[in-house]
Amino acid sequence: MSEPQHGWPAREPVGRIAYVNGRYIPHSIAAVHIEDRGLQFADAIYEVVGVTAGTFLDEEEHLARLARSVDEIGMPMPASPAVLKVITREMARRNRLRDGLIYFQITRGAVRRDHAAPDRPPRPTLIVTARSLDPTTIERRRQTGVRVISHPDERWARCDIKSTALLPNILAKTAARKAGAFEAWLVDKDGFVTEGSSTSAWIVTQEGRVITRDLTNAILPGVTRAIILKAAAEGQIPVVERKFTLAEAFAAKEAFITAATLGATAVIAIDGRQIGDGRPGALTRRVQELYRHAAAARGKP
Ligand code: PDD
Repeated sequence: MSEPQHGWPAREPVGRIAYVNGRYIPHSIAAVHIEDRGLQFADAIYEVVGVTAGTFLDEEEHLARLARSVDEIGMPMPASPAVLKVITREMARRNRLRDGLIYFQITRGAVRRDHAAPDRPPRPTLIVTARSLDPTTIERRRQTGVRVISHPDERWARCDIKSTALLPNILAKTAARKAGAFEAWLVDKDGFVTEGSSTSAWIVTQEGRVITRDLTNAILPGVTRAIILKAAAEGQIPVVERKFTLAEAFAAKEAFITAATLGATAVIAIDGRQIGDGRPGALTRRVQELYRHAAAARGKP
């Protein structure tokens, strides 16, 4: 098995199964209608739950954020959290998923193409897929850290909604990959880092203070971020939720990124400039441990 240089380690099981609108079907033939608004307009919401050793990480929080995003765009939830949990477990079982992720997507459904959402909404489309990831590669990445580049934040004004409309994120991540980096840190027009293209962004100042951007519509309220904030407070680690500039990030003692399935992963260089001594720093490693602990204590198989 070879790992793409910077993407997720591939690990496709034979007989992969997808869930689409009430049916479990082979992944290779799973499909939605050509006029599905998810396809036509990215009129859709998604969510990602990490799975580690058969445990669903921060599942309640991810399902709550899914419901919130769906509500924010005026769509009904197609299934209750209890039903989504049943589907999640069934997907894990059918796909023999131990480590990886569960991906949910809810679209406004299939209807004749018209920009305006229809008065009489069609049934939302519910898609769930499971994907195995190689835990040793993820752990190795945590041990070595990753490189990031800076990139202009060209997204819309409601980044708190986890929409599948990810074109600016895709362009930023692609630029990162082309530059030999794992992630792109998005920088707003005032020079402040908002977040990564698919991760929350953190720095540690020379004084040992952990900084991450405060929650506004400019960023996704990261679930991993929230768990780490709580764990850090309990572990007496000084954390400040505020904006930080790219210049501050260059001068940081440490930096790291967080996301479901990634936990906390050190950033060892930004735009080719080394951060700290170019290895995961002490505070980042402590945060990794705190998160691991918090996740293990909270997760239920
Ligand atoms: N990304 N910021 C953005 C823009 C994200 O897309 C994500 C998650 C995060 C981290 O959020 P969380 O800790 O809740 O995973 C922050 C997922 C993993 C994705 O797009 O695949």
